[in-house]
Amino acid sequence: MTETMDYDDFLHKYSHVFRRYPLKLVHGIPLMEPIADQWDPIENFQARPDDLVISTYPKAGTTWMQEIVDLIQTRGDLEKAKRAPIHVRIPFLEICSPPPVPSGVDKLVNAPSPRVIKTHLPFQLIPKTFWENNCKMIYVARNAKDNLVSYYFFDQMNLTQPDPGSWEEYLKKFMEGKVPWGSWYDHVRRYWDEKDNHRILYVFYEDMKKDLAREVHRVKDFLEVDLPEDIVQKIVHEASFEIMKDNPMANYETVPSVIFDKSKSIFMRKGKVGDWKNYFTVAQREAFDADYQQKMKGTSLHFREE
Ligand code: A3P
Repeated sequence: MTETMDYDDFLHKYSHVFRRYPLKLVHGIPLMEPIADQWDPIENFQARPDDLVISTYPKAGTTWMQEIVDLIQTRGDLEKAKRAPIHVRIPFLEICSPPPVPSGVDKLVNAPSPRVIKTHLPFQLIPKTFWENNCKMIYVARNAKDNLVSYYFFDQMNLTQPDPGSWEEYLKKFMEGKVPWGSWYDHVRRYWDEKDNHRILYVFYEDMKKDLAREVHRVKDFLEVDLPEDIVQKIVHEASFEIMKDNPMANYETVPSVIFDKSKSIFMRKGKVGDWKNYFTVAQREAFDADYQQKMKGTSLHFREE
């Protein structure tokens, strides 16, 4: 890739390498084949003490938090925040495609400090040097049913992840953790259990929907960035669903259609709490909730889902 070549143009040029990759287990977690095949550099990734990690189960509000963090770090300077698409501004640690597309690690090793890094890895697969370096991490969690619905639509449009199949089939796969990055239940629980052992700020999507200003304050305090209230309000406005939906640097519209097929679904789809009610039948909800009670037994982690 030349320095001047736009990253999404580059992806377009190498569009023949992209396809719906099968899942392969990495330490028991299903990940897309190119990630599994290039796992060593991810596992041995060298963290730096001033790295900030944004970790989520896919579709929990990752992009939303990335945009907020970048707006905080640029102190609400919209021109700076629109310097590049969100996946270029904040690289995705474990993402891999077949060569010559650079991996997340390729991009990060050359990135200047301080780096902000996106990941969906479950806690136990996070490269250990992040903990050795006492890095800060923001974890965003979203209630299971909305997370599932969002993932179902995303897997229709994301042509590098396995086809989700029918709604009924997908529901089963999600409950069994047979989707990329594995079990939602294990993911959210483990970070919850570990949050006080490390510098982890645990944030709920539903809280961001309810009172975004309060959550922006929590994030900026965690990052130890001092901002006047008018800048906080500017960030809250810029990170609203309506504004981000129309921001090509935050809504993934620059990603080529061989990767994200926008005719199937769009990235900024609905951005709501409780959308699951439009998809679960009463019987599906009952079965899901009964299974949820079992899987989430004994945890103090609770979600709002409406
Ligand atoms: P929906 O599919 O329910 O609309 P991720 O970034 O982890 O892939 O998550 C994507 C989900 O977050 C999508 O959910 C998307 O619409 C939602 N989202 C992104 N930005 C948002 C915002 N500013 N406000 C509310 N939801 C947002």
